[in-house]
Amino acid sequence: MVSVTLPLTDTLTETAASTTADTLTAPGEVVHAADSPDAPWWRDAVIYQVYPRSWADADGDGMGDLPGITARLPYLRDLGVDAVWLSPFYVSPMHDAGYDVANYRDIDPRFGSLDDADAMVAEAHELGLKVIVDLVPNHTSSEHAWFRAALAAGPGSPERARYVFRDGRGPDGEEPPNNWPSVFGGRGWTRVTEADGTPGQWYLHIFDVTQPDLNWEHPEVVAEFHDILRFWCDRGVDGFRVDVAHGLVKREGLPDWHGKVGLYDEVDADAGPTGEGRDAQQPHSSAGEVLDHTATGASPMWDQDGVHEIYRGWRKVLESYGLPDRILCAEAWVTPAHRLARYVRPDEMHQAFNFDFLDAHWDAGALRTVIEASLRSNDDVGAPTTWVLSNHDVVRHASRLGLDQSLPRPNGIRAGDPQPDAVLGLRRARAATALMLALPGGAYVYQGEELGLPEHTTMPDSFRQDPTFHRTSAKVTGRDGCRVPMPWVKGAPSNGFGPGDTPWLPQPDAYADLAVDQQEGVAGSTLELYRALLEYRRKHRFGHGSLTWDALSSDTVIALRNTAGDGERTLLVITNLGADPVTPPPGEVLVASGPLTDSGAVPTDTTAWVRLPVA
Ligand code: GLC
Repeated sequence: MVSVTLPLTDTLTETAASTTADTLTAPGEVVHAADSPDAPWWRDAVIYQVYPRSWADADGDGMGDLPGITARLPYLRDLGVDAVWLSPFYVSPMHDAGYDVANYRDIDPRFGSLDDADAMVAEAHELGLKVIVDLVPNHTSSEHAWFRAALAAGPGSPERARYVFRDGRGPDGEEPPNNWPSVFGGRGWTRVTEADGTPGQWYLHIFDVTQPDLNWEHPEVVAEFHDILRFWCDRGVDGFRVDVAHGLVKREGLPDWHGKVGLYDEVDADAGPTGEGRDAQQPHSSAGEVLDHTATGASPMWDQDGVHEIYRGWRKVLESYGLPDRILCAEAWVTPAHRLARYVRPDEMHQAFNFDFLDAHWDAGALRTVIEASLRSNDDVGAPTTWVLSNHDVVRHASRLGLDQSLPRPNGIRAGDPQPDAVLGLRRARAATALMLALPGGAYVYQGEELGLPEHTTMPDSFRQDPTFHRTSAKVTGRDGCRVPMPWVKGAPSNGFGPGDTPWLPQPDAYADLAVDQQEGVAGSTLELYRALLEYRRKHRFGHGSLTWDALSSDTVIALRNTAGDGERTLLVITNLGADPVTPPPGEVLVASGPLTDSGAVPTDTTAWVRLPVA
């Protein structure tokens, strides 16, 4: 374990908050010190995200399932990751792709059964892979037994107290209790009809109308989630990815809010019930920009201090299981980095997704600033930093990095929008991944990025399921384009996703040539690049290493040294975002994200890992 003096109060040092491109640590000075060699597994783990609907379909119904996942797990062992995180597989009406849970203790029949889940966990462990499951505590499905009971029981009942029900404002309570919008567009409140047929109270749903927010002030809610954690720990899982971890507690009094509300998108508080106030496919701020509101404590729905007590309780539940550690990873769109670090103080969660890294533009200064600020903030609390470039909520980085980098990250891309430059995007994506996997800490890889899969940017609207698309009357495209089923075998039905011909979302033509069987064993393929990066990373324990900037760094070059966890190797990583090739010093090029020049220099949009001679 790393031993540092840790601030347990809400006041953290804010040194990292002031990191800018002008205040980066000088080359050769330590930005981040190496972890101890016996650090626990999660401090440098590479965790692969499986989106169960879209990874492997064993029964041919067009939707992925647990038996499909179990059968394909050896692929993950061969890829060289440490753990798999599965997006929700619980009983759900699937109004938000399973992030609307109707029963936290059972598997949706589309995905299989509890026996299938047990078999999947057992097989993963047999292969040396840890299993992280998704936990959705901010809201349940409207089909959850508690919410049904709340609707039936009526105003003032104990059943309603588990959710956020309020009387409306205005004559006859016909106006919502406050002006909060839903993250997915439209109003954040819906009025119910009471048992006697009269218009009744309103309930809060920060997301879809089918995702009522729980009331985390209620002891039964707290106790229920402790029990759910135990249910899955008892089944052998190694940790939980915690959905919307910054949203559980709302500011007392639920005051009106006239700023923006965003998670992957900005929503106008003044938009009407169906989001009609929004501009068509409006440009989105980076999450950082949006959530600066939370950083100042301004937004009443995100990052309230009360959330931390909840996670302290969860940490105790997990620690009662002893070693090896079972972990919590926060999905918290909170910035700046020192606010996010509050979620990973030693008695709270273990990890938090680093969305500042995901949101950084393809710009050497921006990336170096994020890398240093992230490491310093997490070091302040003794937590490892994580790194992530893609997930099921954002445009895949092979496409995102092929877009105009001066524009904010879009929420989905469709025909008619500016299309990404696929060649440029993939080249940069490979370079970005090679940079990411050289950084100390943990890393998250989203299914298919190891194949260089692009976003489906021309999916017909008739297939779209994201509630964002529907709640904004198609004004915001949403996230379906990054959730398309995996191609395993070119030419097989659904490119090997399953025996059926019709996957739940259509695959773009480009997926056939990117299928696993087209890349396996092919020198230079994206799959083999990932395998090589992961192999060297594990072998030399770069995830436990230290970080210093190298003097080759400039406005257009990211150059860093990682002295590996074994203390014997120094890796020089060069990511060249500039026009001129960069010549590395003498050393062995372990791996590069693309071809080097004839003279061995690192060209534009390329990352090289160079092992320096032992001093
Ligand atoms: C998280 C999930 C996202 C979901 C939302 C509501 O952000 O990653 O997919 O829509 O929470 O649960």
